[in-house]
Amino acid sequence: MCGIIGAVARRNIVPLLLEGLQRLEYRGYDSCGLAVYDDGRLQSARSTARVSDLAQRVADLGLQGLTGIAHTRWATHGKPATHNAHPHFSPSEAQPRIALCHNGIIENHEVLRRRLEEAGYVFASQTDTEVIAHLIDHLYRGDLFEAVAQAVAQLHGSYALAVCSPEEPHRVVGARQGSPLVVGVGADGHYLASDALALAGVTDQIVYLEDGDIVDIQLERYWLADADGRAVTRPQRTVQVHTGAAELGPYRHFMQKEIFEQPRAVADTLKDVEGVMPELFGDKAWPAFARVRTVLIIACGSSYYAGLTAKYWIETLARIPVTVEIASEYRYRDSPTDPDTLVVAVSQSGETADTLGALRHARAQGMDMTLAICNIASSSLVRECALSFITHAGVEIGVASTKAFTTQMVALFLLALSLAQVRGRLSDSEEAEHLKALRHLPLALQAVLAQEPQIIAWAERFARCNDALFLGRGMHYPVALEGALKLKEISYLHAEAYPAGELKHGPLALVSEDMPVVTVAPNDALLEKLKSNMQEVDARGGQLYVFADADSAVTASPSVHVIRLAEHYGLLSPILHTVPLQLLAYHTAVIRGTDIDKPRNLAKSVTVE
Ligand code: G6P
Repeated sequence: MCGIIGAVARRNIVPLLLEGLQRLEYRGYDSCGLAVYDDGRLQSARSTARVSDLAQRVADLGLQGLTGIAHTRWATHGKPATHNAHPHFSPSEAQPRIALCHNGIIENHEVLRRRLEEAGYVFASQTDTEVIAHLIDHLYRGDLFEAVAQAVAQLHGSYALAVCSPEEPHRVVGARQGSPLVVGVGADGHYLASDALALAGVTDQIVYLEDGDIVDIQLERYWLADADGRAVTRPQRTVQVHTGAAELGPYRHFMQKEIFEQPRAVADTLKDVEGVMPELFGDKAWPAFARVRTVLIIACGSSYYAGLTAKYWIETLARIPVTVEIASEYRYRDSPTDPDTLVVAVSQSGETADTLGALRHARAQGMDMTLAICNIASSSLVRECALSFITHAGVEIGVASTKAFTTQMVALFLLALSLAQVRGRLSDSEEAEHLKALRHLPLALQAVLAQEPQIIAWAERFARCNDALFLGRGMHYPVALEGALKLKEISYLHAEAYPAGELKHGPLALVSEDMPVVTVAPNDALLEKLKSNMQEVDARGGQLYVFADADSAVTASPSVHVIRLAEHYGLLSPILHTVPLQLLAYHTAVIRGTDIDKPRNLAKSVTVE
């Protein structure tokens, strides 16, 4: 989703801005642009293609400068088009006094727009962002920081801003409310970015802003004020970003690379786990876990499906009731609250606006036992939760979550075990058995990945269909949901998932030989029930594509195609069964020729609601 980078430095910052935008590309965007101050003028370039196209335009124009801002835009208000791309200018691009980049959504933009039009401003875009540029210009009396402070006081909604003005050439002002923004402290200048990753290679000294903060970036210093206008300091941290993750190696796409990294990602996530204990989730976890009466899991997208799997594990192992809520729904619902609820927010990025909103909503209801399961230690989510568990998937570039999802499941399984332990429901021998199974997972995942050639053969068939149905039962129903999501995200095929027992309540009407039915069929207690559901499909001329276990008694036939996983993996089976569905989606998308790592209209980190 949208990304910002800004700089005030002693050297030409154009290469740094472009590299920063390139690092933010994976998050998904549809246009990009930059503005730099040079030789008494603010100059700009924008593109509705890739950052590489913007770089070409910048080179053609010979742009350079010591102060500037840049942006990748993911359209919300106004279609992807050059005139809607950031930076936005006021009073006009031809004679700019203000240049501004914005992440987030301004909810009162219509009222402000009317007011500014009455004041004589002419709008060049359909964006909510342009309103902020004109508002700052309207309030500008020679001090950019003052004008930004007065303007943000009138904004409703979420924003991260980077603003500069040719009137004050060595200054960039930033502000944050509900959208991440960091300051980079470098040897030859100061920087602003929506994500520390954008500053990799520039500086590892990062200051995370808090909601309401306004920051003044200058060459020799930066200065911060909080929402009440008081001067504040925020801790400066050393943040190591692994830029090596952005290399493809022998793979065709990052998604493929990340699928094949899963054995390593799971092993890394387990590397500091010496035993099952609440302290895996933070020093203060034990008293919290002892108090827990219910668990509420909040998340979006694939992270929500990881949460759905965890419901089965926590209820089975710890006997604690679990509710799993889609964050965007939960945050606006008036649901009953219980202070003895453990609120578990699951998010790869830790910056998903709805997940953060849901967490804040839960806290506002008096639920203070909060736990983040997150892949980014420095994220807003981790900083806002009392407890945390960091998965070690490493940077995930592909928009469709793969290794982040499986490592979230590992973390949630450890949570189920720890809650069971605190409740006296996990004997030492059971703990040892579960740990042994977890430690064997990387090898078991390798064995699943080795089945890629068979899955490619199936993908040929899927690439030619329009719809696919995914079935699972029990803790493999969320796996079916995740499989359908993967297929639709990256191959643009319509796919949906059902708990197999629901077939006859609707989806059976859709079954025909044109719609493949993928079935997740591990050798568990529900297999016989599932086989009856498969018969229902077979009897109506459907084609079944079954992911079974070596010992699942499922017989292949011309209409029943079977791939068998090497072993049945008990409670951890959902983690293994996820992988062939990722490969199926991936190879179907390869055959269909879609933009796999950056699927159309989607973003990696959804920082607006
Ligand atoms: C986007 C991504 C998904 C991800 C979801 C939640 O939709 O494309 O892959 O599952 O956001 O993101 P989070 O960072 O909160 O896990």
